[in-house]
Amino acid sequence: MIEVKGIIKKFGPVEVLKGITFSVDKGEIVGFLGVNGAGKTTMMRILTSFLPATDGEARVAGFDVQKQHLKVRENIGYLPENPPLYDNMSVVKYLEFAARLKNIRGRKLKEDVARAVGRCHLQDVVKRRIGILSKGYKQRIGLAQAILNEPKVLILDEPTTGLDPIQVDQFRKLLNELKQEHTVILSTHVLTEIERVAERVLILKDGRIGLDAKVEELVAQDGTLEKTFMGFNESCTN
Ligand SMILES: Nc1ncnc2c1ncn2[C@@H]1O[C@H](COP(=O)(O)OP(=O)(O)OP(=O)(O)O)[C@@H](O)[C@H]1O
Ligand SMILES: [Mg+2]
Repeated sequence: MIEVKGIIKKFGPVEVLKGITFSVDKGEIVGFLGVNGAGKTTMMRILTSFLPATDGEARVAGFDVQKQHLKVRENIGYLPENPPLYDNMSVVKYLEFAARLKNIRGRKLKEDVARAVGRCHLQDVVKRRIGILSKGYKQRIGLAQAILNEPKVLILDEPTTGLDPIQVDQFRKLLNELKQEHTVILSTHVLTEIERVAERVLILKDGRIGLDAKVEELVAQDGTLEKTFMGFNESCTN
């Protein structure tokens, strides 16, 4: 469902991604880890066709991210690190707007918006102006727009930042519900969360995939994913 081969990304002379290769099968939930500045957001922006790679190839849901931008965007849900929300719009107007951008029309538009509102527990604020809502609610709106149209692939950049513990738990349940039909790649710094939601982790280190392993095996080996992560990053810097 996601195929990445030899992706390189340079910003000027700086090579941030130095040849990234991995694949994700249908129905997998993969945690994308790495220290600040490791290149997680950059890789996700390439996968969503928002940023061109310098070299290499990537296909998402069968479409080439460099050549088939529109097809890629129709088939993915993307929660960016800073979701672009419009403060003056009400929640429902914004979600309808986001749905139209995804080419959803007519009765389906209303249905998709209602389902996303329900799944992200936004019923109480649908008519409010986005600008006055708290950070956690804004994050939930970002998540709601990502799951409109039930995309085959979800790419979520730090989806639980700002959510309260109850919402984090709801998010975990939502991912479990979605995982039958969807492929999910999510970044986070909350490793306990990855232990609970993901089956597999990829750790980005020095511009490459340094570790690609099953969460269950890492936890059996190290006790917690945090230990794996700390040990991995230490052993690479020494
Ligand atoms: N548009 C840009 N121009 C120049 N450098 C950039 C640009 N975008 C990202 N970078 C650099 O690329 C590197 C990777 O950044 P990126 O945002 O992908 O990291 P990240 O793993 O998502 O980090 P974080 O955990 O802090 O979100 C950083 O050194 C960053 O400064
Ligand atoms: Mg980032």
